[in-house]
Amino acid sequence: MSETNAKKPAWTTADAEDLYAIKTWSAGFFGVNDEGHMAVRPIPDSDLEIDITEVIDAAVAEGCTFPLIIRFQDIISARVRRLNLTFQEAIVEADYAGEYRSIYPIKVNQLHEVVAEIMEAGKPFNLGLECGSRAELMAALALIGDDTLLLCNGVKDHSMLSLMLNAQQLGQQVLPVIEKYTEFEQLMILADQRGLGMEQAPRLGVRVKLSTRGSGRWFESGGSSSKFGLTVPELVQLVSVLEERGIADRLELLHFHLGSQIADTQVLRSAVKEIAQFYADLHERGIRVKFLDVGGGLGVNYGGSYGGEYEDVDSSINYGLKEYANVIVFAVKEICEQRSVPVPTLLSESGRALTAHHSMLVMPVIGVHRPDTPPMRELPAEGEVPMVVRRMQTAYAEAQKVKTRGALTEVIHDARDAHQEAEQLARLGYLNVEYLAHTESLYWSTAREVLRKFKALEIDPVPVEQIDLETQLTDLYLTDFSVFQSILDHWAIGQVFPVLPLDRLDEEPRRRGQVVDLTCDSDGKIDQYVSSHSNKTWLPLHDFRPGEPYYLGVFLVGAYQEILGDSHNLLGRVGEAHIYASADEPGNFWIEETIKPISIKDMLSTVQYFPSDLDRRMTELIRRKIEAGVVKPAEGMRILNNYTKRLEDTTYCDTDAVR
Ligand SMILES: Cc1ncc(COP(=O)(O)O)c(C=O)c1O
Repeated sequence: MSETNAKKPAWTTADAEDLYAIKTWSAGFFGVNDEGHMAVRPIPDSDLEIDITEVIDAAVAEGCTFPLIIRFQDIISARVRRLNLTFQEAIVEADYAGEYRSIYPIKVNQLHEVVAEIMEAGKPFNLGLECGSRAELMAALALIGDDTLLLCNGVKDHSMLSLMLNAQQLGQQVLPVIEKYTEFEQLMILADQRGLGMEQAPRLGVRVKLSTRGSGRWFESGGSSSKFGLTVPELVQLVSVLEERGIADRLELLHFHLGSQIADTQVLRSAVKEIAQFYADLHERGIRVKFLDVGGGLGVNYGGSYGGEYEDVDSSINYGLKEYANVIVFAVKEICEQRSVPVPTLLSESGRALTAHHSMLVMPVIGVHRPDTPPMRELPAEGEVPMVVRRMQTAYAEAQKVKTRGALTEVIHDARDAHQEAEQLARLGYLNVEYLAHTESLYWSTAREVLRKFKALEIDPVPVEQIDLETQLTDLYLTDFSVFQSILDHWAIGQVFPVLPLDRLDEEPRRRGQVVDLTCDSDGKIDQYVSSHSNKTWLPLHDFRPGEPYYLGVFLVGAYQEILGDSHNLLGRVGEAHIYASADEPGNFWIEETIKPISIKDMLSTVQYFPSDLDRRMTELIRRKIEAGVVKPAEGMRILNNYTKRLEDTTYCDTDAVR
């Protein structure tokens, strides 16, 4: 028997793990269990496993609706520990005579509970916070204890600088990190106005514009043309002013930020060495800067290219956490040894790497649309059949006969040409709608037949025509969510997120699917997927059985997405369930808290439609209709009540029917 005729081995859950490349992006947290459900192991080095479909059922029983964010709180603390312990390991290996502290930039996910969990897990490691705006500063000031380092990046106005000085007066470890020289001037003016002498002079840090440019998507955050940071002459000027004032010891921190999701550690190494030289220069000048802050940028492997097998350069990284820590620790040590200066305390503002993994979005499929299946139309009984229609008929007939790659390619080219010509003629009024409908349905039937035969040939590598046909003949899975609210980076910058079914993973997914959202926007869809499949523009999915829930999960959405989301089509914040793992509970988990999604009423208020006003207008309308005899009073009241009640609903679809 030839290899192509050999019976295919039965589909297993291991095949599903491979197809959705789960091992490459899950950092060991997610996998498929024996029942073919997605499962999570939120506590590293423990075999405590939670079936995600059980969490969904429990959350629904508690009143949660879809789309739903599930937060695995234990993953947050696992990531905090892992980051800090990895740096500690690197420090021991390098025999580095200083320490490392991680700083959480709250812009990555400001949700109070997320920040609280990070701070709690970070206590043994002296974890600090970073804020970048006025509101973030206000939140952070109230959260930190006396020993928590709070770094204030971003543009700082007079009022923010004044709050920071107040915090320093209170003994809090709050450092303004100067991004622009004028901020420094304002800080000095403020200190003078308050009469702060040398003893109470402001403590500060400086962000430096390095010559090393960033790498990856956010490369413009680093380098001499970046938006933020002092140039070298400005740094020297600032130091001179501090020296003149006799307060040079108040410069406590040097910082750079290369951009989020650094793609390459060579760039990082170069930047770390560059700033370490500045650090050593200052030291030789007598300024003993305490902290060297390498900013954010520690990447997350969304696209799963680790080892190069599933390549998606912009959404993936070519290094692990250990390499990241080693690059920083060893590079700083090398420069400090060369320059014979003591090593600084190392800081990194890693946000994405701490929060991305802990949260996932669950969204139910509502229905499936097959764009390629218009019903076959018969030809009109009268009139001469136009040439273009006859050409399409020939292509269709040929598709049934031919078998070779060359002949199939020719058939699909002919069919495509006839299809385009038919559309053009119809636009100009030379082909009537009946003929157009007939040509269209013949085209899709031809395309399906050609694709079926291409697949049977199992050509490697897959021909371009086959890839094009697969993309064209893809089912649209209409799903209850909004790309713009829940994974804005996918729409905005093409960031890839792992998406896959949460159930039926012991069953081979045989449909080609593209996930589309509720918005009435053509780009409200997911059009790049993480999979081991060669064509990443669609995702292998199971056939949708109406009436049976089919949930898709989007993973690694805990960093930035929940905060960036906008309200396109007034689809607002989604509901949440916060989960802790526990071996003492049925299913190994308990729900600590659920958060309701935003209601239509509250969403409308954000754009100035107030419920009382809407209600009044509807009441008036219905009263007029009753008076005019359009509806009877009882019916009118029912219509009004229905409208008023709906204001309390969520902004998404009511998927109860699906369950
Ligand atoms: C100054 C600064 N620090 C830290 C971060 C967080 O970066 P990441 O989430 O890549 O760790 C950012 C984000 O770009 C940033 O601008």
